[in-house]
Amino acid sequence: MAGSGAPRPTLDGVPLTRRQLLRATAAAAIIAPLVPAVAGCAPGEVVPKTQFGARLPIPPLDEGALDDGIRTFRLATQAGTHEFVPGQPAQTMGYNGAYLGPTLRATRGERVRVAIDNRLPDATTVHFHGMVLPAATDGGPHAMIEPGASTAPEWTVKQPAATLWYHPHPHGSTEKQVGYGLAGLFILDEPATDGPAAALPHTYGVDDIPLVVQDRRLDADGKITFDPAGNSLGTLGNSIAANGTLGAVLPVTTDRVRLRILNASAGRWFKFGFADHRRFHMVASDGGLLAAPLQLDAVQLSPAERAEIVVEMKPGESVMLRSFAPDLGRVNPPDAFGGGKDFDVVRLDAAASLAPSATLPAMLAALPAPADTTHATARSLTFSGRQINGKTMDMNRVDFTAAPGGSEVWFVDNVNAYQHNLHIHGVQFRLLDIDGNPPPPERAGWKDTIPLLPRERNRIAFRMPPYADAEHPYMYHCHLLTHEDEGMMGQFLVEDAGTAGSGAPSSHQHG
Ligand code: C2O
Ligand code: CU
Ligand code: CU
Repeated sequence: MAGSGAPRPTLDGVPLTRRQLLRATAAAAIIAPLVPAVAGCAPGEVVPKTQFGARLPIPPLDEGALDDGIRTFRLATQAGTHEFVPGQPAQTMGYNGAYLGPTLRATRGERVRVAIDNRLPDATTVHFHGMVLPAATDGGPHAMIEPGASTAPEWTVKQPAATLWYHPHPHGSTEKQVGYGLAGLFILDEPATDGPAAALPHTYGVDDIPLVVQDRRLDADGKITFDPAGNSLGTLGNSIAANGTLGAVLPVTTDRVRLRILNASAGRWFKFGFADHRRFHMVASDGGLLAAPLQLDAVQLSPAERAEIVVEMKPGESVMLRSFAPDLGRVNPPDAFGGGKDFDVVRLDAAASLAPSATLPAMLAALPAPADTTHATARSLTFSGRQINGKTMDMNRVDFTAAPGGSEVWFVDNVNAYQHNLHIHGVQFRLLDIDGNPPPPERAGWKDTIPLLPRERNRIAFRMPPYADAEHPYMYHCHLLTHEDEGMMGQFLVEDAGTAGSGAPSSHQHG
């Protein structure tokens, strides 16, 4: 414990109370079997040393089954137990298993169906994050599946190859359900087998590796806990799990390996790079391939964002995928919110001899210029506290109505001194500028989630989904799960001009 003369550990700059300090010490003690306890490790501060050795588990690949030409997947939500700390089983939830879910995989142009059975004692939904699909099938908070009930949303995949994901979206309890383990990847491929994607590593689990990264807030018994009030960002964990495993090692057998990284944390931001600062190529953002491979030494992901990267390995070497202190903008010091430490995520161990991989193509995708903004509908969203435009989520209020396929430009302001992010359902959008400056190249491609750094204005452009539906709204929200649960969300309807009251508040509006 800190002596009276030493600066006390703080959280959001507020000195910790004695109870928080005791809790912090307890949190640090949980890794005791693996590492020595870290004195004064604050809640949300990741215990810096974990022993690496467990093999990285790969979520099972599920390509579904063709049923009358429809690619059909089956997901069952279930409760289970999972050991983050060996010998200490924790209560968890998963799809078709105890923790996380299978990686679903489909091809552009296909009709897909996801048959879902809810075997949990609680109601849930399954939301397809990043998918362009009709609102009625998107699994938002209106699509509740009661315990014991089933549903089978169906749609046609009409978007480029990408790494998307699925997770629950019950209003007010998304953080808990995702936090207990309900999350999985949904990979989309292009039908052509000879495009640039063919030159990228693409053998699932061999040189094409799914990586679901989450901070876990484990207690002294290795159980998952939540602390939504502990920090401006909500729950921050004290350990880092990759595909559900702390201290995981990925055996590498090819000289290039592709990592499809998802930040599935509630509130933590990661800045992924390698411990030896080697450069890698980013090849895709949330909604698909970048125009060309982008050489980087780090890529930052806020909760729900994805990046696909390709890293080169030499025979016999080991390198750590590390998270460095994230860049939190001009307002915050780099160590704000317990984010200042470097910590290790997954170690890559290359075999003594590696199979050769194809060289990366020079060009990856024909990325169209962001939609013409001159005839777009402009909207402003101000993020503050737990509100967007001064309102918290009301399931019965529709915030606006838009035309199917309509052009939109949104000005999105974060007026707080801490970060938020923005996610929109049913679309992939493009970032036009940040405070008037062009976006960093890693955010210049298709996005469904963007960071909103303190006091920054982001401007985005997109086309509304082509699906009119006067009943089912799409959501837009902060994807920091505590903020989302606390109501930092709004909803819009996509309606044909005939039925949409020209953008005026719709009849769904409540007082
Ligand atoms: Cu990833 Cu509205 O969700
Ligand atoms: Cu979503
Ligand atoms: Cu937020």
